[in-house]
Amino acid sequence: MRVAVVPGSFDPVTLGHLDIVGRAARLVDRLHVLVTHNPAKAGLLPFEQRVDLVRRAIDRADIAGDVVVDALTEGLLVDYCTRVGAQALVKGIRTPSDTEYETSMAIVNRDLAGIETVFLIADPATAHVSSSLVRQVASLGGDIRPYVPAVVADALQPDGPRRG
Ligand code: PNS
Repeated sequence: MRVAVVPGSFDPVTLGHLDIVGRAARLVDRLHVLVTHNPAKAGLLPFEQRVDLVRRAIDRADIAGDVVVDALTEGLLVDYCTRVGAQALVKGIRTPSDTEYETSMAIVNRDLAGIETVFLIADPATAHVSSSLVRQVASLGGDIRPYVPAVVADALQPDGPRRG
């Protein structure tokens, strides 16, 4: 059985993430979407809210296949992969700097536990979208609806954007 994990901070989940999840789900028998901690990043949304938004966004996105949403608050990602029987991680690549950032993690994750990383090239329709961009636009009152699922826009901007 082919099992893979799409990990991330999902702070917040974007349309780019959903594209990768939908495409990855078609490649495996079971896909775990794992909300986890990135020691290098200070979070914006509380962890539980990130998990809840990923769950609701995936429910509404009508993604085909066996997709499980899960959370990991401590420990190594590869240990989670081993626990759930996953052979591979799936990551989206938007830009050359993503490749640089992801390459060393992929090598370390394979060194640590033999977990492979499969890269999917982002769809051009969402290749410009990142959680950090969404956080910045939201904090300045801009409209984030083009970049995120409706559940995220409703949670972050319940009264709509301040400008636009
Ligand atoms: O969405 P992000 O923040 O770019 O995802 C990075 C993430 C969460 C996948 C990475 O920080 C991670 O794997 N965190 C879990 C802890 C871990 O295993 N670290 C070692 C990675 S080589």
